Amino acid sequence: MDNKRQELIDKVRRAISEKNSEEDILKIATELIDGYSEAFNWTGFYLMRGNMLEIGPYLGPVTEHMKIPLDSGICGAAASQKQTVIVDDVNTDPRFLACSLTTRSEIVVPLMDGDICLGEIDIDSDRPSNFTIEDKQMLEAIAAIIVDRLKDIKK
Ligand code: SME
Repeated sequence: MDNKRQELIDKVRRAISEKNSEEDILKIATELIDGYSEAFNWTGFYLMRGNMLEIGPYLGPVTEHMKIPLDSGICGAAASQKQTVIVDDVNTDPRFLACSLTTRSEIVVPLMDGDICLGEIDIDSDRPSNFTIEDKQMLEAIAAIIVDRLKDIKK
């Protein structure tokens, strides 16, 4: 992991350790992740509520996708496969649900608690092929830290 990515992981870890509600934890994480790159044009969370993904804190254009079923969208794919999904060109992916017409690529990283998906980090970019394996590794590390903190506050 390069320094800049490791720094973001550490920053998120420190910041969320000071927050004690799910809303505050996800909000500060959204702000820090969004600030990492100017090519992150929509950054936010969806949370698993029953069998639907519901929108959580986000930064970026207002989206009409407030609730996403598991069989729908890139978001549904990542949650049901329990794996990170990177789409280099959303225009060629029939699963894509558009939030903004300018979006070109997307990454969705599930928040996994063992085998259970609690929600996901979703980032859209206006640049094609914006997301790399290093971004995936960084965001999966952040997702794991967030899950640990969410479990901590529920104890
Ligand atoms: N693009 C996502 C929908 C969420 S919005 O982009 C914020 C999808 O295809 O599931």
